Amino acid sequence: MNTPPINASTRYCGLFGCPVRHSASPAFQNAGILAMGLNWRYLALEVLPENLPGAIEGAKAMGFIGLNLTVPHKEQAFRLADEVEDSARLLGSINTLLFEGLTEEGWLPVRDWGGNTPRQIRSVGYNTDAEAIIRALGEDLGFSPAGKKILILGTGGAGRVAALRLATEGAAVLYLVNRTLSKAESLRREIETHYPALRVHIGYPPQTETVDLVMNSTSLGLREADPLPWDGQQFCLKRSALAFDMIYRPACTPFLEAARAAGCRSANGLSMLLYQGVTALKLWSGAEPPVETMRAALREHVYSPSSPALPHA
Ligand SMILES: NC(=O)c1ccc[n+]([C@@H]2O[C@H](COP(=O)([O-])OP(=O)(O)OC[C@H]3O[C@@H](n4cnc5c(N)ncnc54)[C@H](OP(=O)(O)O)[C@@H]3O)[C@@H](O)[C@H]2O)c1
Repeated sequence: MNTPPINASTRYCGLFGCPVRHSASPAFQNAGILAMGLNWRYLALEVLPENLPGAIEGAKAMGFIGLNLTVPHKEQAFRLADEVEDSARLLGSINTLLFEGLTEEGWLPVRDWGGNTPRQIRSVGYNTDAEAIIRALGEDLGFSPAGKKILILGTGGAGRVAALRLATEGAAVLYLVNRTLSKAESLRREIETHYPALRVHIGYPPQTETVDLVMNSTSLGLREADPLPWDGQQFCLKRSALAFDMIYRPACTPFLEAARAAGCRSANGLSMLLYQGVTALKLWSGAEPPVETMRAALREHVYSPSSPALPHA
């Protein structure tokens, strides 16, 4: 399919991050936009943290459809959003903004403005990462969190969002392991405040316990020289039925390799990346994006030999 030229009616959406040049999002979002016949373009723009407020206001004023936010902007963007969707409020972190203008019919997204630009525009924040984790686990591993025991390695930004969403979905027991203990402890307190019935433990499960899923949400595995993200003395991967690594490049990390050798059904983070983008495009367009077209574009971009070296979401 040929990409139509940019003209005076072209609308824009995009990703703000720092760094951002490695991002796979323009490749698969533009493939989706093209297949949907939209006269839009998806850009990746490097924005320093101190410039984020101005950059968001600028995009708003220029009639951008919406934005994705990646590291290190997700928490600051949450504070800057004019409105935040309910499920994202608990997370304190957003990765998607939808711009809406105040029209005679009320607040309408940019796609419904017609030729007029409203004087008042607001941003509405969403966290599509959280939903993407659940969708990826469901589709790639046949996993549904209700009643399950889960070991989470890494309670940074992505691990925290995963833990909170797994709690929302009814997980029964969470084991949290993190290099910086205080972060795991503060997440435990946070989860227990909102989900008193859920059992949250810091550290590995006792040697006699099995879990349903072990998830790597540390950044260990991105680089060849990285140590392993778990302690094999404390937890043998044979004690989990399933293994999920949020990392998608390399496609098979040493964690996933060991999990497969231990007999776990396993998946990497490619579907998670895909679905956070699919949901954002759905919010912006109000239509169902072409998932398989986007997946093919993402796979080609991420796993082609000429793909940029910096492997981050
Ligand atoms: N597939 C996707 O769509 C997607 C989306 C988001 C993130 N991710 C991936 O998820 C991973 C985490 O991302 P994030 O945004 O949560 O990053 P982050 O907030 O920086 O968290 C990094 C995590 O890794 C741990 N870690 C880093 N270096 C370590 C080391 N040398 N030893 C032990 N632990 C270490 C950190 O522990 P401390 O707390 O002790 O620093 C923390 O738990 C990354 O690999 C990222 O690429 C994937």
